Amino acid sequence: MGESLDDFVQQLQDSIFQEMKETYGEMAYERWLNPRFMGGMENPDGYARVRGKCGDTMEIFLKFNGEKVADASFRTDGCGSSMICGSFAAEMCIGRDADELTEITGEAIMEKLGGLPEEEEHCAFLAAETVQEALGAYMIGHSKKTKRE
Ligand code: FES
Repeated sequence: MGESLDDFVQQLQDSIFQEMKETYGEMAYERWLNPRFMGGMENPDGYARVRGKCGDTMEIFLKFNGEKVADASFRTDGCGSSMICGSFAAEMCIGRDADELTEITGEAIMEKLGGLPEEEEHCAFLAAETVQEALGAYMIGHSKKTKRE
């Protein structure tokens, strides 16, 4: 009995994994299995939390070193593709300056991860919007700091 339950669970897991791979493609599937850059960050220089129309939230954390992003991470309570998009969005932030961060759009995220099913494209736009909000928060904090100095 125990073994057949284990077999059933294994088959179920295999079929979910297979479906994910077929839906998202190899690169996004790998990222779904291993969502890099996931988690919060202490004292980020830029931070935003945005709720999408779907009701899910995305958070982006940015840490700058000089002009460029030295570290970035994300958190989401959303769907599998929001996790994939958040992970790619955070990765795309690293090494960019403020001007280059403005190039992170929903389209750019989708291009990076190899496309999304149409009904999930909004997840990429949510990640991009959150990056832009985090950048805005950084710019406000940065200009206040510059004025004080
Ligand atoms: Fe809400 Fe993907 S369905 S972020």
